[in-house]
Amino acid sequence: MKAIVNERYGSPDILELREVVSPVPKPNEVLVKVEATSVNRADWYMLRGEPFPVRLAGGLFKPKHQVLGADIAGVVEQVGSKVTQLKPGDEVFGDLSGAGFGGFAEYVAADEKLFAKKPSTLTFEETAALPMAAVTALQGLRDIGKIKAGQDVLINGASGGVGGFAIQIAKAFGAKVTAVCSTKKMENAFAQGADEVIDYTVQDFTKAERQYDLIFDVVGNHSVNAISRVLKRKGTYVSAAFSMAALFLGFWKSITEGKKMTNFLAKTNQADLQFICTLAEVGKLKPVVESTFTLGDVTEAMHTIGKGSSSGKLVIVLEKPFQAKEREKTTPQQRI
Ligand SMILES: NC(=O)c1ccc[n+]([C@@H]2O[C@H](COP(=O)([O-])OP(=O)(O)OC[C@H]3O[C@@H](n4cnc5c(N)ncnc54)[C@H](OP(=O)(O)O)[C@@H]3O)[C@@H](O)[C@H]2O)c1
Repeated sequence: MKAIVNERYGSPDILELREVVSPVPKPNEVLVKVEATSVNRADWYMLRGEPFPVRLAGGLFKPKHQVLGADIAGVVEQVGSKVTQLKPGDEVFGDLSGAGFGGFAEYVAADEKLFAKKPSTLTFEETAALPMAAVTALQGLRDIGKIKAGQDVLINGASGGVGGFAIQIAKAFGAKVTAVCSTKKMENAFAQGADEVIDYTVQDFTKAERQYDLIFDVVGNHSVNAISRVLKRKGTYVSAAFSMAALFLGFWKSITEGKKMTNFLAKTNQADLQFICTLAEVGKLKPVVESTFTLGDVTEAMHTIGKGSSSGKLVIVLEKPFQAKEREKTTPQQRI
């Protein structure tokens, strides 16, 4: 099968489209034909081997996982002897980041519990945008933030992959949502349901008078003191962008001011994928796909995610053989 391989840490330019051996499912695993996969910051960190703690899990000198790609949407092709929930032909989606990645490929084999049935209302392309980013937003708001209807919720970094889902999920829980993003992304934030939008190039929300019950942060560009100022009494600050300040000073603020301030790391599970699927099927969650790429264009997609200014998700759609043939007739410039 074809896969995008990274044998060492480096820039997106080291990525190579190669022919590799197809995975064989173990008894508890399913073999999934990947229809679409999406790019996350996690792929960027794993490719670069930075920040350093990434290497503690991903290989000190060279990557343990040589095919990246966490999010996939596809069709079950084969099932292991102990698989009980899925059968060939089922359309599924899942997050492989806890199981060695591998999504930038034509096939993946992984534990059936990593997958849920694909939302019937979405395409494979849209579905591949969901797993890691939507589950991160869900767990940050619901499990750590304990979001409640009627609360004033602020999303910092509301225009990217995680932030866009955070707006929609906070609205689904009945919150009043203020989105923080740059000028050109404001319209997009309103379209995803934000009640108010703050343009961070014009206004610093930590210097305004308005206070919030819950702040969900995917940027981490403000000090704990600045955030604390705009957090209501007993308010909660949840940061998906890990900061040492939030870890230590946040703990102190929790004790002295009764405000909960914490980092968190999402962990995708089947129940939350199913929850996300339901939100999508009832029309409360709609992925915003900024651009689509082919497997041969993963280098370009990774350069784009590395810039950190996405306005939605970057999705890789696996080509059908006839499309690949057509593509060979064009130059990369013609394809942009
Ligand atoms: N903790 C976890 O479990 C977990 C899971 C997934 C992701 N993450 C982290 O969450 C972060 C975001 O991920 P993502 O996938 O959403 O990334 P992304 O798609 O690249 O989005 C990042 C967004 O941040 C915005 N931004 C940059 N500077 C900003 C500022 N000063 N104020 C407000 N917004 C700003 C950018 O928009 P503009 O162009 O408008 O600036 C961009 O839309 C990453 O650091 C990632 O590592 C954590």
